[in-house]
Amino acid sequence: MDFADSTPLIARRAGPLQGRTRVPGDKSISHRALILGALTVGETTIAGLLEGEDVLHTAAAMRALGARLERTPEGLWRVHGIGVGGFAQAGGPLDFGNSGTGCRLAIGAVAGSPVTTSFVGDASLSGRPMRRVLDPLEQMGARVIEAADGGRLPLTIQGAADPVTIVYETPVPSAQIKSAVLLAGLAAPGETTVIEAEATRDHTEKLLRHFGAKLTSKPYGEHGRRITLQGQPELEPANVVVPADPSSAAFPMVAALLVPGSDLILDAVMSNPLRTGLLTTLREMGANIEAVATRDDGGEEVADLRVVASKLKGVEVSPERAPSMIDEYPVLAVAASFAEGVTRMRGLKELRVKESDRLEATAAMLRANGVTVEIEGDDLIVHGKGNVAGGGEVATHMDHRIAMAAVVMGLAADNPVRIDDSAFIATSFPGFVELMRALGADLS
Ligand code: S3P
Repeated sequence: MDFADSTPLIARRAGPLQGRTRVPGDKSISHRALILGALTVGETTIAGLLEGEDVLHTAAAMRALGARLERTPEGLWRVHGIGVGGFAQAGGPLDFGNSGTGCRLAIGAVAGSPVTTSFVGDASLSGRPMRRVLDPLEQMGARVIEAADGGRLPLTIQGAADPVTIVYETPVPSAQIKSAVLLAGLAAPGETTVIEAEATRDHTEKLLRHFGAKLTSKPYGEHGRRITLQGQPELEPANVVVPADPSSAAFPMVAALLVPGSDLILDAVMSNPLRTGLLTTLREMGANIEAVATRDDGGEEVADLRVVASKLKGVEVSPERAPSMIDEYPVLAVAASFAEGVTRMRGLKELRVKESDRLEATAAMLRANGVTVEIEGDDLIVHGKGNVAGGGEVATHMDHRIAMAAVVMGLAADNPVRIDDSAFIATSFPGFVELMRALGADLS
């Protein structure tokens, strides 16, 4: 996207945020449901699929690989899959746009089919590391035909005709690496094992079981897991219900905490414990967030959350918490700016390889708006003063979460905050601006 296409946005302080709303479906589960549906013979239905650009790229990729996908007028998706190892040769490169998750998971899925597939993406995705998935997939028999420097996009891989099983210990805690290996492992005879030192989101494991695969997940060390998948299962078509995305709910949630007088309810937010690090941290900071109702929704626990504006205090956030809130640091840093006292967020190395260098982009967002912030090694240290001057312009660097965090900051700051380009919000949260306006936000 060149500069001429950019869509600036200004967020201003207005009245309290009030009402009841439901944010769109979970991005992680949406990608996985489409891919597993494509790997299953028969008809899978998906309700509540996130129809953001990232997920739509995955849908298009599954079509290009031979699955049949249709959307009913009511928004239900039907996927007619072709089975493990059954992907067709795509007619051209698969374009994943801005989406690291869709791309890395799809690389894993095609690694177990004897087809040659090319992957391309936008400038942000083309700069992100792919070696982390290519390394284990090569051990399983896939071949990288070509790739840009350091194994980046554009890249072409040839899937293995006879993939072999591996026992793989992930070098960094990453649900994407784990998922790529497990998806490739579906086509391998015998047991594929992934060991992670820190447990990461387990949606792939849950959905694999939901589609009938045999998989065990056992504690490993103090915080980790050892996951073993039995390869070549007979996957059964399944119905998937996608709960509301906690990483999207994070934005109206923090906005309601910061804008005085706010009181709102966020419906059916997924509360999988591997995704609730932000909630835990905000509560430690003094946030008034109450689960007014909880229930099970398609295999995940969900909660209706009542969020009331609260005075926050600075806290220390341990590195062990990072996997359960890895996408939430930009908006947590905004909350920390409005808190009283210092918040130190530790162990954020992985933020450097997200849609942007999120450690730098978050620090720059705060600095541009008068907040004192430091990066020390892999730690982000925010000096909260209870209020934020605002008045700055935020560079989003093609990163949807920086854009939405900046909006939240502008809604509570003394002066308006300008966001250079809001277009990337549509990758994960279509309708964000309209949803926030309906709650009372002033966005123009
Ligand atoms: C995701 C995993 C995380 C997260 C991303 C979604 C997933 O990435 O940042 O937004 O759905 O598996 P890593 O696995 O690379 O940490």
